[in-house]
Amino acid sequence: MDGYSSCGKSTIAKGLAKKLGYTYIDSGAMYRAVALFAIRNGWITDQMMDEKAIIEHLSNIKITFKPNLSGVQETFLNDENVEKEIRTLEVANGASRVSTLAAVRKEMVRQQQEMGINKGVVMDGRDIGTVVFPNAEMKLFMTCSPEIRAKRRYDEMVSKGESPLYEDVLANVKERDLRDTTREESPLRQAEDAIVLDNSEIGIDEQLIWALNMFNKIT
Ligand code: C5P
Repeated sequence: MDGYSSCGKSTIAKGLAKKLGYTYIDSGAMYRAVALFAIRNGWITDQMMDEKAIIEHLSNIKITFKPNLSGVQETFLNDENVEKEIRTLEVANGASRVSTLAAVRKEMVRQQQEMGINKGVVMDGRDIGTVVFPNAEMKLFMTCSPEIRAKRRYDEMVSKGESPLYEDVLANVKERDLRDTTREESPLRQAEDAIVLDNSEIGIDEQLIWALNMFNKIT
């Protein structure tokens, strides 16, 4: 499943995985974990990104997923649970920056392909249908207007007790869209054989039913 930032891919991917008894893998969380590692080490600031240091230390970054007590997958960076820390705007921005580096992408794609080797996986990201699993049985491409995505992301952050500015969230969404679609390495694009889901006007339950029907038709 591929698509723009904050268009609800993970909600549908998780729901689909649960219904099918598959494992959900959040590939964006892996780029976020790399970004967190880089931010903590001072290799990413507002002004600069130390590409050399990030690439040199890639082999020191071990990303794993483990389910919590409710069965929800959480992200671990070198055995530390970073699930909460990787969800900030700062880390989201850092992820979109480190994900432009070819060496970072190569290593993440390698790890993602390994995770899917035995199949039974629903993975979401930007290059899953085009690069990671070009032979996936089912490919979904999700789209939604930037304003609606920003509003959903804003509401989610407020519900977590944060107090962002809507304008900042919208600017972040647009900035990441631009970077994701124009980067040289694996830019976000729809795979030729992907099915498009524009969820600007559709609720979660309806999307899930639609996706399950599609899955049953295809497989
Ligand atoms: O999906 P999420 O918003 O968590 O991803 C964070 C960032 O990681 C995205 O903005 C995108 O730049 C990058 N990403 C990527 N390829 C993926 C998944 C995420 O480049 N497969």
